[in-house]
Amino acid sequence: MAFRLAQISDTHLSARVPAFSANFDHLAEHLRGLRPDLVINTGDLSLDGADQDEDLALARSAHDGLGLDWLAVPGNHDVGDDPLPGCRQPANAERLARWRRHIGQNMFVQDVPGWRLIGLDSQITATTLPDAEAQMEALVRALEGAAGRALAIFLHKPLCQERMDEMESTYWCVQSTPRHRILDLLMPQRPAFVASGHVHQWRDRGVSEGLRQIWAPSAAFIVGDAYQEAVGEKQLGYVEHALHADGSFESRLVTLPGLVLHDIGEMPEVYGPQRRLAA
Ligand SMILES: [Fe+2]
Ligand SMILES: [Fe+2]
Repeated sequence: MAFRLAQISDTHLSARVPAFSANFDHLAEHLRGLRPDLVINTGDLSLDGADQDEDLALARSAHDGLGLDWLAVPGNHDVGDDPLPGCRQPANAERLARWRRHIGQNMFVQDVPGWRLIGLDSQITATTLPDAEAQMEALVRALEGAAGRALAIFLHKPLCQERMDEMESTYWCVQSTPRHRILDLLMPQRPAFVASGHVHQWRDRGVSEGLRQIWAPSAAFIVGDAYQEAVGEKQLGYVEHALHADGSFESRLVTLPGLVLHDIGEMPEVYGPQRRLAA
């Protein structure tokens, strides 16, 4: 029997946006019926946990309400973002402490039959926080201890958009320097897949750049084409991973007709007006 893992992402929960909570409730009802062995949220659990305790508290109670085992890694809206010029909410010790207070650890190592699942906090990787170095050391130990298990990595931001050697600093991916540090550790043991969120688009191109990179869609909203380039598919849903004890696996997008496809570009009251792409 395969281990059934439901990867949900970008739920953006807050009492201030009932529309996103309604989508979560719909997803939660589906998952409670399905009873997967584990739920992993790949970040942006909350609308603005980076600054609002109550959003993280709500996200915690919503996930506990699943009545299922669940794990999570933080997203930029949970703990802040890469400290690039103009970043309004840089990841810092205060934000990380808030996450830990409400949700728990910002990384995880979980063994299931034949597999080691490793969750990483992509949001601190470009910071000088001691937690960033501690995480790299924990990753080394997690890989050393994997002892022949298949590996799956979970983090909020994808490692890259198209190529691992892209150098541009972008909002959408792990920055180049930490990306290469992580890859140098991962590649000798070649994870079966790297699963991320953040882009609010579904994408699975099979193995490219030497790794299977699976992007989960959001369960809350998309960013419309006027505001974000389509590099994957703009749908809502989640990813079902069936992990077999021999290290083989199947991953697929699950869409739920009851999820309402909100476009954040048409909801300026949530995160402010989104910048339109140049025509
Ligand atoms: Fe998000
Ligand atoms: Fe995000």
